[in-house]
Amino acid sequence: MERLEAAMQKARAARRAARGQGDLPPVTQPVGTATELPRQPADWSGLTRIELAPTLAPRQRLGALMGPQEAAPYDLLRTRVLRQMTENKWTRLAVTSPNKGCGKSTVSLNLALSLARQPDLRIILMDFDLRRPSLAKMLNHSRTDSLALLLEGGADFAEQAVRFGPNLALCLNQQGIRNSSELLQSARTSAVLDAIEARWKPDIMIFDMPPLQGNDDSLGFLGQVDAALLVAAAGSTALSQIDSCEKELAAVTNVMGVVLNKCRYLGTEPGYDAYY
Ligand SMILES: Nc1ncnc2c1ncn2[C@@H]1O[C@H](COP(=O)(O)OP(=O)(O)OP(=O)(O)O)[C@@H](O)[C@H]1O
Ligand SMILES: [Mg+2]
Repeated sequence: MERLEAAMQKARAARRAARGQGDLPPVTQPVGTATELPRQPADWSGLTRIELAPTLAPRQRLGALMGPQEAAPYDLLRTRVLRQMTENKWTRLAVTSPNKGCGKSTVSLNLALSLARQPDLRIILMDFDLRRPSLAKMLNHSRTDSLALLLEGGADFAEQAVRFGPNLALCLNQQGIRNSSELLQSARTSAVLDAIEARWKPDIMIFDMPPLQGNDDSLGFLGQVDAALLVAAAGSTALSQIDSCEKELAAVTNVMGVVLNKCRYLGTEPGYDAYY
């Protein structure tokens, strides 16, 4: 934990230095720079456009792209997230979970897709599970760009990101990397994210993170975001795990809430079932 705290302090100090600021902002203040700049529309039309095959949505549980019934839980989540982000002037949201396979990537992608259905919003979704990336596979996108290269400053966002529709940009990754923890905690990553936010002016950046247990990738990065959503899976995440992870998260960022995923129940209408 000491190593983590030291790394997070270092990252924050680098952010402050880059922005010419003195003391650390309180954790309830936005850590990004977008709100500090005059809001001018950035041109996203040059980003490479991707299309999603219609068969992909049911196969990958992309309810946000399906009918109103399938989209409803994600739209509800969108509204709650948006309210908190707007009220607090937050721009960066991490999605994590106690253990693996809880549905972080599914929730991150659906949330991003649901937010992007609001045409006045611009969303960037980044696959920050650098050890085991999955969003590219979920979207059946086989371009071999490396997110690590972008974070190391060796590639430009305009080359690396792809665009779905006019207002959702995705930073995808094909190959897992081994030094993910160091990369996520590096001052360079922090500076690259600041530069992306300043140049491309997203309203919300969503980071699909690894689980909290197992390695320090998520915890080490969370000082860079304004808030985190904790995804738990009904049936496989113990209450005690949710509790301890919430506390761990609260020590480094604002906890926006817990999403209970994979929780199926029958509603009053025939055939109705819900994910949350
Ligand atoms: N609401 C749900 N109901 C049923 N299955 C789901 C639900 N959400 C996700 N899944 C399935 O659970 C599996 C894991 O989902 P996902 O990859 O989104 O989880 P993750 O938390 O990102 O996993 P990892 O920790 O490996 O990154 C996938 O097969 C996905 O389709
Ligand atoms: Mg995942």
